[in-house]
Amino acid sequence: MALLTALLPLSTLPLVARAAPTAARVFSRQSANTTTRSNSTSATVYDPNDSPVTPFKLPLGSADTHVHLFNPQFPYAANRSYTPSNATLDQLREFTTQYSADGNPIQVVLVQPSPYGKDNSALLDGLKRIKKQNWGIPRGIAVIDPAKVTDKELHDLHVAGVRGVRVNTESAATSTSSEENTALIKAAVDRIKHMEGWAVQVYVAPSIWRDSYDYFANLTTPIIADHYGGLKAVSTLTNNTSPSADSYDQALNQTGLAELVELATSGSVYIKLSGVYRASTFDSGYWADVAPLTSHLAKSVPGRLIYASDWPHTGAGKDRAGRPLSVIEQFRVVDQGKVLQSQYDAVNSTSVWKRIMVSNPRKLYRFH
Ligand SMILES: *[C@@H]1O[C@H](CO)[C@@H](O)[C@H](O)[C@H]1NC(C)=O
Ligand SMILES: *[C@@H]1O[C@H](CO)[C@@H](O)[C@H](O)[C@H]1NC(C)=O
Ligand SMILES: *[C@@H]1O[C@H](CO)[C@@H](O)[C@H](O)[C@H]1NC(C)=O
Ligand SMILES: *[C@@H]1O[C@H](CO)[C@@H](O)[C@H](O)[C@H]1NC(C)=O
Ligand SMILES: *[C@@H]1O[C@H](CO)[C@@H](O)[C@H](O)[C@H]1NC(C)=O
Ligand SMILES: *[C@@H]1O[C@H](CO)[C@@H](O)[C@H](O)[C@H]1NC(C)=O
Ligand SMILES: *[C@@H]1O[C@H](CO)[C@@H](O)[C@H](O)[C@H]1NC(C)=O
Ligand SMILES: *[C@@H]1O[C@H](CO)[C@@H](O)[C@H](O)[C@H]1NC(C)=O
Repeated sequence: MALLTALLPLSTLPLVARAAPTAARVFSRQSANTTTRSNSTSATVYDPNDSPVTPFKLPLGSADTHVHLFNPQFPYAANRSYTPSNATLDQLREFTTQYSADGNPIQVVLVQPSPYGKDNSALLDGLKRIKKQNWGIPRGIAVIDPAKVTDKELHDLHVAGVRGVRVNTESAATSTSSEENTALIKAAVDRIKHMEGWAVQVYVAPSIWRDSYDYFANLTTPIIADHYGGLKAVSTLTNNTSPSADSYDQALNQTGLAELVELATSGSVYIKLSGVYRASTFDSGYWADVAPLTSHLAKSVPGRLIYASDWPHTGAGKDRAGRPLSVIEQFRVVDQGKVLQSQYDAVNSTSVWKRIMVSNPRKLYRFH
């Protein structure tokens, strides 16, 4: 966190849940010390599980549909927008096991992170090892160049467990228009729409749901709208790190939300409840101002929601401008137990919670 401290004013730090440890909180590792992370490339001890963990158990059969591996044995793209710290498969296994009801690691979907560009080698290596460990069904979302990828490459990705491709323009330091985003999504859809069980996963600015509504309304290829479809909580919308509770509902008026809900109701869109810290700057591990979004979506489109931790909780595109690639971006400190508790409370229905955690992802990713 030293890097964020160095670059940002203190008032923007609530990106990070860093409340003082309490008796109710346990640490995943005895060595956890969130105050001593270094931003230098010589940092040697960093464990992405060094976050406080409030106990929380997911229903049996749950899926965490968006996690990343950062394995420096596989080189990062030269033109990446940041250099991540390490996040290994063993660490991921340990992380997901903390939330499992039966002591086994829960089903995951590995998502190709932006620093690897279109080289899916680290992802494929992870899927291979997941298969070897008999850890659920290997599933992944890759990144391709639609103009260059061959049929053979798509086939090989499928055999490895890949069930979709990703379009992500929100990890970059600069913003991208709805028109540009739609062109990227269209190219991806056109290239993979014949692939059995494949989706196009998108992390783009939410105005796209309004601006390209007609395009999405006619699609049959599933679209996975990452991180609450790019929607924002009131703290981000108003640039106020401590909004009052009676203002939280204002998030329900934002551009794109109504169209996104409509597209999930009658179209092929799924919405991923993940990355609350990408929606909110609220200074609380509980992320209270995201609740109206979670609750509204749970009531409106309970059959089209899926969950993800977004582990190991990478930083934000807008903080990457001007940072040299020699500086390692540390992961955020996120108490995922608290995030889950806040989402569970906002969903306010155990049957809808089970759909989000178990049956919806099972159907979408075909975990069988
Ligand atoms: C974390 O490290 C800082 C600086 O070395 C130290 O002052 C603090 O006591 C440590 N906290 C814990 C919980 O170990
Ligand atoms: C982090 O980076 C900043 C700017 O490069 C530097 O001033 C600071 O000393 C670094 N902190 C650590 C703990 O390395
Ligand atoms: C990341 O992994 C590389 C290669 O295994 C290792 O050299 C490096 O020290 C690790 N970095 C951290 C911060 O753990
Ligand atoms: C990085 O370069 C590749 C081609 O080598 C290009 O397809 C990609 O768009 C570039 N990415 C960024 C973030 O500039
Ligand atoms: C979507 O389908 C409707 C009805 O079939 C059609 O009128 C409309 O032109 C289509 N829109 C696009 C963008 O293809
Ligand atoms: C948000 O607030 C911070 C601190 O008050 C200010 O520096 C920043 O420019 C604001 N950003 C926007 C987008 O208004
Ligand atoms: C949404 O906007 C309308 C019209 O601008 C306003 O009347 C209403 O109070 C707003 N609702 C919320 C929840 O902010
Ligand atoms: C949760 O649902 C119950 C009904 O099952 C309702 O009485 C209660 O008001 C709801 N709580 C919230 C915070 O919406």
